[in-house]
Amino acid sequence: VVKRGLKSRGTGLPVWSDVPVMMDIVRTRSALRDAVANWRKSDLSVALVPTMGALHEGHLDLVRAAKQRADRVITTIFVNPTQFAAHEDLGRYPRDEARDASLLKGVGCDLIYAPNASEMYPEGFSTHIRVSGVTQRLEGSFRPHFFAGVAIVVAKLFSQSRPDFAFFGEKDWQQLQVVTQMARDLDLNLDVIGVPTRREADGLAMSSRNAYLTEEERVVAPALKRALDVIYEATLAQPSAVAAIAQDATANLIKAGFTSVDYLEACHAQTLQPWTHGDPVRVLGAAWLGKTRLIDNRG
Ligand code: PAF
Repeated sequence: VVKRGLKSRGTGLPVWSDVPVMMDIVRTRSALRDAVANWRKSDLSVALVPTMGALHEGHLDLVRAAKQRADRVITTIFVNPTQFAAHEDLGRYPRDEARDASLLKGVGCDLIYAPNASEMYPEGFSTHIRVSGVTQRLEGSFRPHFFAGVAIVVAKLFSQSRPDFAFFGEKDWQQLQVVTQMARDLDLNLDVIGVPTRREADGLAMSSRNAYLTEEERVVAPALKRALDVIYEATLAQPSAVAAIAQDATANLIKAGFTSVDYLEACHAQTLQPWTHGDPVRVLGAAWLGKTRLIDNRG
């Protein structure tokens, strides 16, 4: 249980985010299993929303969608070390569990599962999951460790909670395809459901990593979504020029102030192979703004 102090900030009135919250948080596999078993006794359906915390409206949309679909919703908060390479931002990844708990309470989440690293990866842990095909390009090329880390932690979260549904943001489009593939291949017997990306008013996709952006970088950041739009429009209006237009869009991102572009590409929406006319399309991009790597996509 997380309890937050009541502060007046000089007005004599509580500020909404400071109102005390009582939210059930379990930290062990056995406590999670007990909670789910209790719900199952009453024949209640269960949805899982895996997160790494530092929640924003995009995450809350996942919980809202889960509430529509299932009787009970579990949100997991776990900054998963196996999906970060040694040089990446595991250490500085934003964490604020009390704030997350308060936000989750506000959207009707029923339970938070927030294990620590040794609960998830006890001494001697040595199993790996490799999803091939859909992991090979894009994020898989630039972050070779990433999908193996996501696959193992998501498979464990599924096996620990045995949900009927699991909700993932479309912002991580390739991750959504990987988890869908894995759930199908391993007969995990649940529906993996994607939820559309929540955007700021200027088009920037909401992301916990946006917190890293400086004021100047934040002004430049929406150019990534505009680049995706240009390429997407080309797939409709000028399919034979898509590759050239993607190259121009890459150069324009650098002109706009991005430091470098990992990829900016129209792909087959499910296989993520390069797009050819007639394929279902998804345009995906990843680019660096200073020390922050942004990813986004649209279909
Ligand atoms: O998308 C994320 O936040 C993470 O990759 C996930 C799915 C919670 C696994 O750690």
